[in-house]
Amino acid sequence: MKDEFDKIVRTRRSVRKYKKTDIPHDDVKNSIIHASLAPNSSNLQLWEFYHVTSGNLMKKISRACFDQPAARTANQFVVIVTRKDLWKSRRKFNMNYIKNRPETSSGKGLKKRSIAIKYYKYLIPTVYREFFGLLGYFRYVNALLIGLFRPIYRQVMNSDMRIVAHKSSALAAQNFMLSMTSKGYDTCPMEGFDSLRVKKILSLASSSEINMIISCGVKDEQGVYGEQIRVPFDEVYFKK
Ligand SMILES: Cc1cc2nc3c(=O)[nH]c(=O)nc-3n(C[C@H](O)[C@H](O)[C@H](O)COP(=O)(O)O)c2cc1C
Repeated sequence: MKDEFDKIVRTRRSVRKYKKTDIPHDDVKNSIIHASLAPNSSNLQLWEFYHVTSGNLMKKISRACFDQPAARTANQFVVIVTRKDLWKSRRKFNMNYIKNRPETSSGKGLKKRSIAIKYYKYLIPTVYREFFGLLGYFRYVNALLIGLFRPIYRQVMNSDMRIVAHKSSALAAQNFMLSMTSKGYDTCPMEGFDSLRVKKILSLASSSEINMIISCGVKDEQGVYGEQIRVPFDEVYFKK
């Protein structure tokens, strides 16, 4: 398993040119299921996955990605959308699940359940609730003051919570790409696109944000532009 993972990680490359080979839609869908199993902040799952397969939509999305090669030659797209605005419904989902979980109906389980419910009932709204951006500033100042005396969670502004949601979406994106690699397919993550146009094309809610568009296909012989280059590892690795 260790070797298999190493192979998958080292095989994945960003592919800019795909062959005209069709990939079964269900294979991509299965990798999207893997994406949805990624770790995510508070298990709120503030994401959505749009699997674009129809020729007409493919052309429009490619155009919105400036027809860059990775988009123009793609067989399918997966658009990973961040939905911070869904925190209330996803919080409810978690609370309902915890309330109805049979193993939490007695003893230690009851105590754990009560802590988990309090987490979703009180803590999540404390950091996610917004009122014209003002609550975030209030939370920030509050954290600054309390933080003088004890450790406190400081990422409480609206912009911080956007980052929190995007982090989880990016983890889903990586799950997706590695899953595709494990099946012998190729991908390219893209942030080079016109987000407003993509939102219109996919009829997305205005409050949604596009985290990444991932093109999928089978790589052409010239699909990878060069060897994988990274700065020396000791420039980024610090053992303390
Ligand atoms: C968030 C993100 C956005 C990216 N956007 C683009 C893009 O718009 N077009 C593109 O060709 N590659 C894009 N890439 C791919 C990177 O250029 C690529 O990952 C990097 O050069 C390292 O190469 P490797 O993925 O083959 O290891 C993106 C990668 C990430 C993670």
